[in-house]
Amino acid sequence: MPREYSQKAALVTGGAQGIGRATAALLAERGYRVAIADRDAAAGRKTGMTFIRCDVSREPSVRACVRRVLKRFGRLDALVNNAGIASPGGGPVEKLRLTEWNRRIGVNLTGAFLMTKHAAPHLRRVRGAIVNIASTRALQSEPDTEAYAASKGGLVALTHALALSLGPQVRVNCVSPGWIAHAPVKKRDHAQHPVGRVGRGEDVAELVAFLLSDAAGFATGQNYVLDGGMTRKMIYV
Ligand SMILES: NC(=O)c1ccc[n+]([C@@H]2O[C@H](COP(=O)([O-])OP(=O)(O)OC[C@H]3O[C@@H](n4cnc5c(N)ncnc54)[C@H](O)[C@@H]3O)[C@@H](O)[C@H]2O)c1
Repeated sequence: MPREYSQKAALVTGGAQGIGRATAALLAERGYRVAIADRDAAAGRKTGMTFIRCDVSREPSVRACVRRVLKRFGRLDALVNNAGIASPGGGPVEKLRLTEWNRRIGVNLTGAFLMTKHAAPHLRRVRGAIVNIASTRALQSEPDTEAYAASKGGLVALTHALALSLGPQVRVNCVSPGWIAHAPVKKRDHAQHPVGRVGRGEDVAELVAFLLSDAAGFATGQNYVLDGGMTRKMIYV
């Protein structure tokens, strides 16, 4: 085996910005060779990391992406299904167009299925791990967010189904972030959180890195909520 192939390799979808970029950067710091897959080529190339243009909702694109990772790194140890249409709104359900519903399900949920389908044989070989990025919106809602909520709820369920199908070789977990800001937010937005601040991409990255690591060898099939305590707060007016 060529020497560089002995180093662990990770693939982070939606890694061109936000949570995915922070996660890819931390995994690189922790010694992984990292590829990011994203449909936004301009943002992806700016990261300076190995970038693969990919639309996770399209199977030929996903198949080609996994092949490129294998060609480059010779192995795949960690898959982070993070790519998503991150805006939860889609308008009132009576007016929600089927195309809009399908778009969110297609990227947020089907994307994770397709990536896992093509990565699974390689992950099994090295006893790898998968982390899916869902959302606290899998568990609670604002009005007019049906497609996003359903896509993330589906991802939580897909996680435990995969944990059973791919174990014991591959562990599969889910992280459900609350509010993760990529730009400054108001004081009151920080203050409403039990921890006193909104989240950062780096907060999610730390938990993902732990779940991918051998230190998390007893963890599989679970959904880990990371939300500064917001879903534990009574909000009756
Ligand atoms: N930011 C938050 O508050 C928050 C909270 C909970 C969950 N999440 C979830 O975390 C993940 C990352 O969110 P973020 O805030 O970093 O969002 P972001 O918009 O900053 O990043 C999402 C990335 O996914 C990419 N992407 C979108 N569709 C794609 C496709 N079809 N194929 C490949 N790449 C695609 C985008 O180009 C982008 O780079 C998403 O799944 C989102 O739903 C975010």
